[in-house]
Amino acid sequence: MAICLIGMLQNSECQANDINFEQYMTITALRVTNFRNLALAELLPASIGVNIICGNNGSGKTSLLEVIYYLGLGRSFRSSTASRLIKQNTDKFSIFSQLVSDSDRYIPVGVERDMQGSTRLRIAERDVSSITELASYLPIRLINSQSHNIFESGPNFRRKYLDWGLFYQYENFLTCWRQFERVLKQRNAVLRDRLSKKELDVWTDELVKHGLELDQLRREYVEALAPLVSDLAKELLGVDNLKIIYQPGWDESQDYAAVLASSFLEEIRAGFTQYGPHRADLHITIGAHPVKHFLSRGQQKLLICAMILAQGKLLSMHANKGLIYLVDDLPAELDLLSRQKLIALLLKQQTQIFITAIESETICDLIGDGSSMPVKVFHVEHGCIVEISTDSKYAVINS
Ligand SMILES: Nc1ncnc2c1ncn2[C@@H]1O[C@H](COP(=O)(O)OP(=O)(O)OP(=O)(O)O)[C@@H](O)[C@H]1O
Ligand SMILES: [Mg+2]
Repeated sequence: MAICLIGMLQNSECQANDINFEQYMTITALRVTNFRNLALAELLPASIGVNIICGNNGSGKTSLLEVIYYLGLGRSFRSSTASRLIKQNTDKFSIFSQLVSDSDRYIPVGVERDMQGSTRLRIAERDVSSITELASYLPIRLINSQSHNIFESGPNFRRKYLDWGLFYQYENFLTCWRQFERVLKQRNAVLRDRLSKKELDVWTDELVKHGLELDQLRREYVEALAPLVSDLAKELLGVDNLKIIYQPGWDESQDYAAVLASSFLEEIRAGFTQYGPHRADLHITIGAHPVKHFLSRGQQKLLICAMILAQGKLLSMHANKGLIYLVDDLPAELDLLSRQKLIALLLKQQTQIFITAIESETICDLIGDGSSMPVKVFHVEHGCIVEISTDSKYAVINS
């Protein structure tokens, strides 16, 4: 298998200038070295299908999801210190992967990170400096036991959720967001250093211009997303009075420029910009209650699943492509009926799914005979991964 996988990665016909930035891809081959406890792990996942990653506690299941997440986002969901990801007593980790589009184009990608903090990223045999390009191919969403933090934590978490969707939905989002962030930084420097009002006015005009562009994209996105979330929340939780209200980061009854003009003294005192898209939020309620005060932990998990599935649905409506779902420990906190509903909705997405569980049967039983998608089962033990088949229904389907 090692030779086959390395061969696939080396023999790719795709050159850098062939890359079509419109394409979203899935993973057909993955080789990981020295990532947490995964000394050398290789797998050929079902590219449109369910990949069940099973194994005992501490075997490396979550680490494998972390690898895939790292590939798409250039960071971990468990640790902000990248050196913690490198296997103990080794000095770097590497991830090689082959991506495939639905038009059967293959792109090899690789990421390496060493103890000194240097990262090497290669796409289609050329070095790239930013993860953004790779991220544009691999829309990845994670569902785990921390996902409900989006409701409990600050607006930053909800803005990130929103902006993740905007990145894939609107080609001009990244430029727009970067322009806004750059201007915000400049304006904050003017406020902090108490420079002249004239100088502040120049940056205020720029902030309003880029802020309103960003606001418009976010508004459009939420308008399209909210009904999908409501439908999915109804299906998963049985609630029919869910509301998602977009808050732009200033008092909406007033014009943004007017808000900034009237808060001049307040901002000078604070030394930074008080109002704008950097303060945007999503107000999510059931009836009159914010979800964090109303829903149980399990229900919150189901709601975030509905929110993530809605993003996937919107993406497939917009670009006819799905995202890659990583679901860590699906059964946790969910009763049988909720698990069944969630798995059914995931299967409906017809995309690439990785699900971890201690025992593969837990997931296979949920899938039942109803899946038209290939199902592959991988067993992780002491950092090694072996593809197994459970019964005839889940016999290994070679891609
Ligand atoms: N840098 C590292 N080097 C070596 N091993 C590590 C490193 N970081 C974490 N580990 C170990 O990797 C193992 C796998 O962890 P992981 O969280 O992937 O397990 P898991 O299969 O998801 O377990 P669980 O079922 O309990 O969630 C753990 O035993 C952990 O101690
Ligand atoms: Mg785990």
